[in-house]
Amino acid sequence: MSHLVTLIPGDGIGPEVSAATRRVLDATGVQIEWVVEEAGAHLLEREGTVLPDRVLEQIRRSRVAIKGPITTPVGSGFRSANVALRHELDLFAAVRPSRSLPGVPTRHPGVDLVVIRENTEDLYRGIEFERGSPEAGALRAELLRLAGREVREDSGFTVKPISVTGARRIVRFAFEFARSNDRKQVTLGHKANIMRFSDGLFLSIGQEEAAAHRDVGFEEMQIDQLSMRLTREPEMFDVLLLPNLYGDILSDLCAGLVGGLGLAAGANLGWEYAVFEPVHGSAPDIEGRGLANPVAMILSGAMLLRHLGEHAAAEAVEGAVDRVLDAGDVRTPDLGGTSTTEEVADALARAMSPPGSG
Ligand code: NAI
Ligand code: MG
Repeated sequence: MSHLVTLIPGDGIGPEVSAATRRVLDATGVQIEWVVEEAGAHLLEREGTVLPDRVLEQIRRSRVAIKGPITTPVGSGFRSANVALRHELDLFAAVRPSRSLPGVPTRHPGVDLVVIRENTEDLYRGIEFERGSPEAGALRAELLRLAGREVREDSGFTVKPISVTGARRIVRFAFEFARSNDRKQVTLGHKANIMRFSDGLFLSIGQEEAAAHRDVGFEEMQIDQLSMRLTREPEMFDVLLLPNLYGDILSDLCAGLVGGLGLAAGANLGWEYAVFEPVHGSAPDIEGRGLANPVAMILSGAMLLRHLGEHAAAEAVEGAVDRVLDAGDVRTPDLGGTSTTEEVADALARAMSPPGSG
């Protein structure tokens, strides 16, 4: 059976790491029918958008996509294509595994954790009022009336909504994810003692669902304490469940724990659609020179294979990454090597044992 997959190369280093990923996924022998869709900064002039509607339509058709990074043009008034994609397709869960890789020296060799980040609410909902605007003034007046609290006149505002609906679906997703991926413990990060009605609500839904998922361990931790513990004993954590902002911050921290952005894979998942992508951005500083590490996107590709039910192929890709990194002679400059993006893809394709053979 052939799988229909939308491939969005993106811009910057996106096309380079996408070509490498396609090469490695094809080398697994899994039949993938690729539909390539352009999105990115290079379309802005021609089409007036970085994310044409046809890209969304195509993802809705194939239901599964893998994408390279897309530059967010600064100051153009454009909404980030990534934010738009997550919103339009209701990709409410970001899943970002961090695993210590052989041959990549770090302070903590035994890390194997997954960050699950709520993708649609919290301070990233995009509800903001600019300092000095009439809306900010009206909000100040309303806050005085409702809360009896004076807010300084020269304040700007960003609103932090967290709903029962939004919290419940991500919490359930995290427990289901733990179950189906044989993970034992969910750690929920929050600051519920200060933000009682947003983080506090997230926490209370977590506690409710923990009671309904007793086969998975559950602990809650204040986000500051969690940050400290992560830098000292990251190997103690399994699944981290986080509201949007904390999830954004800690997923980069966790990527750093295991060797940096060149290795960090991810997925954005909803009930209907799945879009896999590396955590890193378009890296304009190294674009077009063969310096980009394709491993982050290739490992995102392994997550895609698993999502398609191609477990043996997913393991073959991950095994090849482990072996090539461990051998140490083929790696890109971010890992201290001198190989090009393409040379890494070649080495991985060669290192792949055919799925099922071992
Ligand atoms: P970035 O991740 O593109 O780059 C940060 C640093 O990491 C740079 O020094 C870069 O060279 C390096 N780096 C990143 N990926 C690498 C790889 N695969 N191999 C080797 N080195 C790598 O972050 P930055 O510079 O903040 O963002 C650049 C653009 O990307 C911005 O327009 C941003 O909005 C966009 N972006 C897009 C994302 C997406 O499409 N999901 C995610 C993050 C940023
Ligand atoms: Mg981020």
